Amino acid sequence: PVPTTTLNSGHSIPQLGLGVWQAENDETEKAVAHAIDEAGYRHIDTAAAYGNEEGVGRGLASSSVPREEIFLTTKLWNADQGHDSTLAAIDTSLGKLGVEYVDLYLVHWPLQDSERMKQTWSAMEKIAESGKARTIGVCNFEPHHLEVIRGDGEVVPAVDQIELHPHLPQQALRSFAAQHDIVIESWSPLGGTSNSGWGKASKPNTLLDDPILAAIAEKYEKSIAQVIIRWHLQNDLVVIPKSVHAERISQNIDVFDFALDDEDLMEIARLDDGERVGLHPDEMNLGAPD
Ligand code: A2P
Repeated sequence: PVPTTTLNSGHSIPQLGLGVWQAENDETEKAVAHAIDEAGYRHIDTAAAYGNEEGVGRGLASSSVPREEIFLTTKLWNADQGHDSTLAAIDTSLGKLGVEYVDLYLVHWPLQDSERMKQTWSAMEKIAESGKARTIGVCNFEPHHLEVIRGDGEVVPAVDQIELHPHLPQQALRSFAAQHDIVIESWSPLGGTSNSGWGKASKPNTLLDDPILAAIAEKYEKSIAQVIIRWHLQNDLVVIPKSVHAERISQNIDVFDFALDDEDLMEIARLDDGERVGLHPDEMNLGAPD
């Protein structure tokens, strides 16, 4: 019984989904099948750049839940930005996923090149019109990137998926998004992995053994991961924790039998130090897309 949030497209998105960044096809297939059939997930978040859309597709196909009951997201890679290449990229993704449509198609990163981004967005609008994506949105867009699209396009992105966790609560971007009817999704919601990210090494995860969170977790007899996931949910965010381990996948959705109180939320607010684990959007693509 995962609550849903209504998007500006009129479609609704389950507030909790499974992320699969850095998972290979075979482990992705198993993770997706477990998430849907055993754990009760109805929302899967992948990307062309993850290289595991086929694994997601096989996991979906093997599950006993019909396609229309699943909320499926994939993302357009930087190198495919531009009008025609965006139109081609969605077809490639649909082919790999083995589906007729995705629920959400996201532009993975902003570019410095505003003209190219506008061309991309006009293709995204066509993709939404064609029904190949029910809803369209972006990732890693700061207000100045959103303004480029809002000024030019007709469709306001329904979603902005950004790095967000207790070290980086993103208050400014959240209030901008709220004013413009854009739903925020949190990536690296548990503080990310210690594996290297794109372009530069990401920082080690310091949230999953944080003493403040550990104390709260102990109080509710829950794990730190579960406390962090509750924090996202109670902040009205859409959250997509990644795991390839069956036990953790199940644990991460077992968060609807407790709630953080105001005091917990105030304690967690102390963790805001602005530390990112991934790239800042303006660091991602300084020149031509690659
Ligand atoms: P794994 O896939 O090996 O379980 P993110 O913040 O990007 O969602 O990162 C989650 C990271 O934490 C992943 O590396 C994941 O690794 C790990 N993880 C996911 N769920 C849990 C959990 N319940 N307890 C501990 N670690 C977790």
